[in-house]
Amino acid sequence: MAMNRERGPLVTFEFTDRDFTRLRDLVRKLTGISLSDQKRELVYGRLTRRLRALGIANFRDYCDFLEANLDHELEHFTNAITTNLTSFFRENHHFEMIAGEPLHDWLLRRLQENGRLRFWSAGCSTGEEAYSLAITLAETIPDVFNRDVKILATDLDTNVVATGRAGIYPENRIEALSGERKRTWFQKGSGDSAGMVKVADELRGMVTFNPLNLMGDWPMRGPFDIIFCRNVVIYFDKPTQATLFDRYANMLCDDGVLFIGHSETMAEICTRFDLVAKTMYRKLR
Ligand SMILES: C[S@@+](CC[C@H](N)C(=O)[O-])C[C@H]1O[C@@H](n2cnc3c(N)ncnc32)[C@H](O)[C@@H]1O
Repeated sequence: MAMNRERGPLVTFEFTDRDFTRLRDLVRKLTGISLSDQKRELVYGRLTRRLRALGIANFRDYCDFLEANLDHELEHFTNAITTNLTSFFRENHHFEMIAGEPLHDWLLRRLQENGRLRFWSAGCSTGEEAYSLAITLAETIPDVFNRDVKILATDLDTNVVATGRAGIYPENRIEALSGERKRTWFQKGSGDSAGMVKVADELRGMVTFNPLNLMGDWPMRGPFDIIFCRNVVIYFDKPTQATLFDRYANMLCDDGVLFIGHSETMAEICTRFDLVAKTMYRKLR
């Protein structure tokens, strides 16, 4: 038996092809996430801690447990399976587009005409995307905190939603930001919170974090002016992407914009949008 010097014997858990197929089918049905054969190791690695916590000895028993206790276990399961990589101002060209012409002008016009702007960060992970958007809006829309400008940030993974809502990050998460942005939009922790930063209250007031499975019902009415769904659909198969893009089109206002991730495309999947810039799509009327 292998040994881990700090923790003692390393317990291995039996994980058969059938177990992997059962988990893969469940993940796809419940979350839309499509796991390739190459993800087998990842699934094993991500779930062993959960098996250990539950005192379950092998994956077959865990599959039985999961199916019998979906109400409670689904959250732990999906939290373990999701990949949450993100950062502040990731794929910065999208934020530059929001701050520049012609998109910025369009947003100001919409705000003037409708008295409100609505944004949705769908698959927001730990919140950096939503706060980057909030910073961009705060820096470019006059008096934004006194206007009806709101960002909804949602994710399937309840742990990342809680992190986003708290708005507290290790200081190194913002090291690439300019000194001015750091000073203006983040508060440095001290004492027990040394090494951490907290997002400014005004920005936090603009963003509402909620858990939401994109595969389920969407309780919000919209319409949204801009939706971010970046680096999320890459985990879904094409039919699931097609359904999702169609639902986003239904949720956007006329000429509304959808941003997707750098390795994602709508080509040959959905015809309800026009590609206007790299990974930026405008809803067709
Ligand atoms: C790689 S992160 C992308 C975060 C951010 N949008 C970005 O581009 O930096 C993908 C996120 O999608 C979420 N996700 C995956 N499947 C989902 C689903 N069915 N419903 C909602 N969120 C989902 C994951 O939990 C994860 O936080």
